[in-house]
Amino acid sequence: MTKIIQISDPHIVPEGELAYGQVDTAIYLKACVETINRFLPEIGPVDMAFVAGDLTDFGTAEEYKRFCNIMEPLEIPYRVIPGNHDNVSKMRTSFSDKDWMPNSGPINWTAEFPDIALIGLDTNVDGKSHGHLTANSLNYLEEKLAVFGTKPVIVATHHPPVITGIEKMDIQNLRDSNKLKSILSTYQGELKLVCGHIHRNIVAQFGSVICQIGPGTSHAVSMDLREGAPNCLTKEPGAFLLHEIRNGIITHSIPVGQFDGPYLFYPDR
Ligand SMILES: [Fe+2]
Ligand SMILES: [Fe+2]
Repeated sequence: MTKIIQISDPHIVPEGELAYGQVDTAIYLKACVETINRFLPEIGPVDMAFVAGDLTDFGTAEEYKRFCNIMEPLEIPYRVIPGNHDNVSKMRTSFSDKDWMPNSGPINWTAEFPDIALIGLDTNVDGKSHGHLTANSLNYLEEKLAVFGTKPVIVATHHPPVITGIEKMDIQNLRDSNKLKSILSTYQGELKLVCGHIHRNIVAQFGSVICQIGPGTSHAVSMDLREGAPNCLTKEPGAFLLHEIRNGIITHSIPVGQFDGPYLFYPDR
């Protein structure tokens, strides 16, 4: 049974800086790596991890180097897709030694396992906050799905195509998503769309598929559904997702950190 971990939105900044003057994002990504490694005996083996975008805050080579250093102890292989805070060309250079990294064009890739396939898609628009899938990326997705037939598939994008009610994020979502909805909804096998960007665990329907937005590793976008709500972050606990195949695709959310327990519910029985 294949298991895949989704990490999202670590927003690594240069050493000595805080993201938005508030969050030491590096310590949370380190804690995420430690949490995953510590949990592997209970939840593993895990076949692959991926980072669903916003690896860095400003997309600089220095930030990618720091990101890679922090991820280095992770005991499972990982891949990345870009978010709006990333720089596609700097990201390509930083992972140029990886066989899954395309030499040019959007950072789209596919990982196939015996019981599931994972397709990562690049929704980055250079210099913009919102997301878009180019015709090239949509063609890539269609071609891959045609090969997989009825195999369960997870499609990963940074920007979600759904409206969450968090106004300042919704205006940055994945635009022009009707073609994506049609491609995903007509797939003959089980398919789940997973995203990042909102830094919150949110589940929504997108056409005929489930869309799950993963939590971030550090700060969350503040939970404020009022019209005109300010664009804020809140230092809620970070988390990551574990996707696996049982009767179908099931997703667990696991908080970053170390917590008391486990305790037997009934130690005397
Ligand atoms: Fe983000
Ligand atoms: Fe983002």
